[in-house]
Amino acid sequence: MAADPAVGDDRTERLLAWFGDGGRDLPWRRTRDPWRVLVSELMLQQTQVARVLPRYEAFLDRWPTPAACAASSVADVVTAWAGLGYNRRAVNLHRCATAVAHDHGGRLPADLAGLLALPGIGPYTARAVLAFAHEADGVGVLDTNAARILARWTGRPLGRAEAQDAADLAVPEGRSWAWNQAMLDLGATVCRKRAPRCDACPVAVDCAWRVAGNPEPDPAVGSAGVSGGQSRFEGSDRQGRGRLVDALRAGPVPAHALPAATGWPDDPDRASRVAATLVADGLARVDPTGTHHLPS
Ligand code: ADE
Repeated sequence: MAADPAVGDDRTERLLAWFGDGGRDLPWRRTRDPWRVLVSELMLQQTQVARVLPRYEAFLDRWPTPAACAASSVADVVTAWAGLGYNRRAVNLHRCATAVAHDHGGRLPADLAGLLALPGIGPYTARAVLAFAHEADGVGVLDTNAARILARWTGRPLGRAEAQDAADLAVPEGRSWAWNQAMLDLGATVCRKRAPRCDACPVAVDCAWRVAGNPEPDPAVGSAGVSGGQSRFEGSDRQGRGRLVDALRAGPVPAHALPAATGWPDDPDRASRVAATLVADGLARVDPTGTHHLPS
């Protein structure tokens, strides 16, 4: 995709200046340690900054390196993940730490292919480690926020490869860290999914959607990488899974107690089904008596 250097340079300077003036001061922005960056990015996937803040330092005090994490049981990591939700991320983090400790001498790889080859690390997380720990040039961190911003700037929904190309091309040389953090802040505080605050946007003049008067449909809707939002939690399988993991954190759950532990006392079939998904995901193990435990 051809970049428009004239627009790009002005836009770049405006966004970086805005971030320099008011970018959020967050603990994971004061480090370039790849492990600390990785932990923050996994915690922040689908969990709000405010919920991550009180947990981040405590986690890293306990597990300051991949080797330290790998030396603990996955049960300990899942237990420490309480309150963050999406517990599978804790299992993934432990798997990743184990691979790094065993196969990479305790250091996270510093290249895209090496990071992507680790368990639990996808394109978003790999790029976030490159940009936020190594300040790597040409690496656009494409989360739902950046994908939404890029579609609006372009004025139409983007395909996946096009969105990644646009994200990479937009990164100014030598400023990968600040640029990508600025995109996350712009998406979180200004270029929001609903009710975007275009009046407060430092780059509104560079935005095709804004310049056209914000016509419907919003170009971000249906654009690659833009999530439709989290599905309803109340009454979902996810809620039952979360309740059962909470119960397992307190101790083993015998088979007869599964329905109550999932919150579905009158639906043992559903409780068993959901328990089986936890076992399949490595979040629980079941002993020969049918009692469920956190994985060892
Ligand atoms: N969400 C995901 N990564 C983030 C970061 N580095 N800062 C703030 N919010 C984020």
